[in-house]
Amino acid sequence: MRAPLIAGNWKMNGLVRDAQALAQGLRARLEKDSAPEIVVCPPFLALAAVREALAGSPVKLGAQDVHWEAKGAYTGEISTAMLQDVGCTHVILGHSERRHIMGETHEHVNRKTRAALAAGLTPIVCVGELLEERNMGDTNGVIERQIVKGLEGLSAADLSRIVIAYEPVWAIGTGKVAAPRQAEEVNRFIRKLVLQRSDSRTAEGIRILYGGAVKPDNIKDLMAEEDIDGALVGGASLEVESFVKIVRYTS
Ligand code: PGA
Repeated sequence: MRAPLIAGNWKMNGLVRDAQALAQGLRARLEKDSAPEIVVCPPFLALAAVREALAGSPVKLGAQDVHWEAKGAYTGEISTAMLQDVGCTHVILGHSERRHIMGETHEHVNRKTRAALAAGLTPIVCVGELLEERNMGDTNGVIERQIVKGLEGLSAADLSRIVIAYEPVWAIGTGKVAAPRQAEEVNRFIRKLVLQRSDSRTAEGIRILYGGAVKPDNIKDLMAEEDIDGALVGGASLEVESFVKIVRYTS
């Protein structure tokens, strides 16, 4: 069985004190929770404060991006060692906002994924189609290119250590959640792509999340689908109560 994972992507929101307050609120409410696995991904500058605020809680720490080089002349970038130094265990990679606003390519995602794996971080690799691509009937084509190129050269052992998040771009921040069936179809397709590149054990074990307008009132239906193993939550992860409700979708 795949252990569910709920990850909060705080994006570029809040100051350090806001991140601290959010983390303290989560710690107070989620102290005894051990399932599902929970990760929060604050902005880089809040990571250290959030780690402190979460100390002793089961909530894990992730970053929203990382650079592939270990160190050197890469102005503005952050390395895997820097993330681990502040307590990160996870890192979101290839988020559609980075692909479409910052021009991140499949090759960038591939290098970052390899670097994260080499460092022992768990990459949460995001894939997803634009509305035009879905309307043109190219959803599977887009997902396949993102998976094939983004995860090129990864062994079955590598694949077993990553998390994939399917995030249709038209659902992110729009309040338009994908129908559970629609998300399930793509997640199942992703699992098939992983199978073609590894073995049944790896494909059955890999966790494939859904992301895009996940809220307390739709999480349960999404999680009821066989190939949806968790959620990557944006807006609704910025408030303690809504994130706690999402984490506790079974109750
Ligand atoms: P949203 O964002 O939940 O605000 O739609 C999800 C994401 O971009 O990870």
